[in-house]
Amino acid sequence: MRIAVLMGGKSREREVSLKSGKAVTAALLRKGYEAIPVDAAEDVPGRLKEIHPDLVFIALHGRYGEDGTIQGLLEIMGLPYTGSGVACSAICMDKVLTKKLLIYEGIPTAPFTVIDKDDYFKTSKAVHEQVINDLGLPVVIKPATQGSSIGTSIIREEAALGAAIVEALTMSEQAVAERFVDGVEVTASVMGNNEPVALPLIEIVPAQGFYDYEAKYTPGGSAHIIPARISDEVTDRVKSIARHIYRSFNCRGFSRIDFIIDSSEQPWVLEVNTIPGMTDLSLFPDAASHYGIGYDDLVEEIVKLAVEFWDLKV
Ligand SMILES: Nc1ncnc2c1ncn2[C@@H]1O[C@H](COP(=O)(O)OP(=O)(O)O)[C@@H](O)[C@H]1O
Ligand SMILES: [Mg+2]
Repeated sequence: MRIAVLMGGKSREREVSLKSGKAVTAALLRKGYEAIPVDAAEDVPGRLKEIHPDLVFIALHGRYGEDGTIQGLLEIMGLPYTGSGVACSAICMDKVLTKKLLIYEGIPTAPFTVIDKDDYFKTSKAVHEQVINDLGLPVVIKPATQGSSIGTSIIREEAALGAAIVEALTMSEQAVAERFVDGVEVTASVMGNNEPVALPLIEIVPAQGFYDYEAKYTPGGSAHIIPARISDEVTDRVKSIARHIYRSFNCRGFSRIDFIIDSSEQPWVLEVNTIPGMTDLSLFPDAASHYGIGYDDLVEEIVKLAVEFWDLKV
């Protein structure tokens, strides 16, 4: 089977994606697949026409990769690919749409305010007042369509609010102001098509501050604690919410869902990652390995799930 591995690309998460893509390519080669790396910053349709793959493994994160655009291109080219489809990818890349859908599904997600770029610069003072009145302090400011905590700030005093919103709005047409949830951060890795399985939860403990870009990608920046230090009952609830989201959002192959559990044991959903990091130190492979699935087997399983979904004859 010939598999093109899409990596890199033009998003702010290019560097992480190159690491994910290289690790995936190496695993596929060890498993005996003909794996061909493709930098998505190049002419993707041209490269794929040359390679003529049986399957495309998408190891891209962020914009133009995790957001449904590449998935749409591959649909039009008639090429099967790993992971979630166009609509699910697009919704999950957008934190505003994700939160709206979570509310429809009755799943707790922290109260929030949407800040539109067009309105903000005309009415910034009123927006600041509304954010502070509705959400209090600290408050979390994030771009609607970014990942890896890029552009995300935790604001503890009103004076810092404006700069954080402006920063988030340089990366996205909308920013989200979200109530700060104090608690234990856990992430749920889910794998499968119609009958998804939740892997062991990982508790994330940043070495300092919050789980920002540094904490995510610097060695020693954060600790993964498996299984998470929460009761069996809460673990089951988080896994069941994660599987419910996976099904109702139409996730496919694999996804990782981020939570914070507050002091009254209430889990709050932060977001859904349709292409979680796949470096050998990333959260998803770590959860799989504690479940008994090593890195190479995990990569092969993601391929098999795509083969099943697209009904490929191999
Ligand atoms: N409402 C919140 N309360 C407390 N911390 C938050 C909140 N939202 C985000 N964070 C912190 O910011 C990090 C990144 O936020 P997240 O919504 O997962 O976006 P992304 O990972 O796509 O950048 C989280 O892992 C968490 O540490
Ligand atoms: Mg996250």
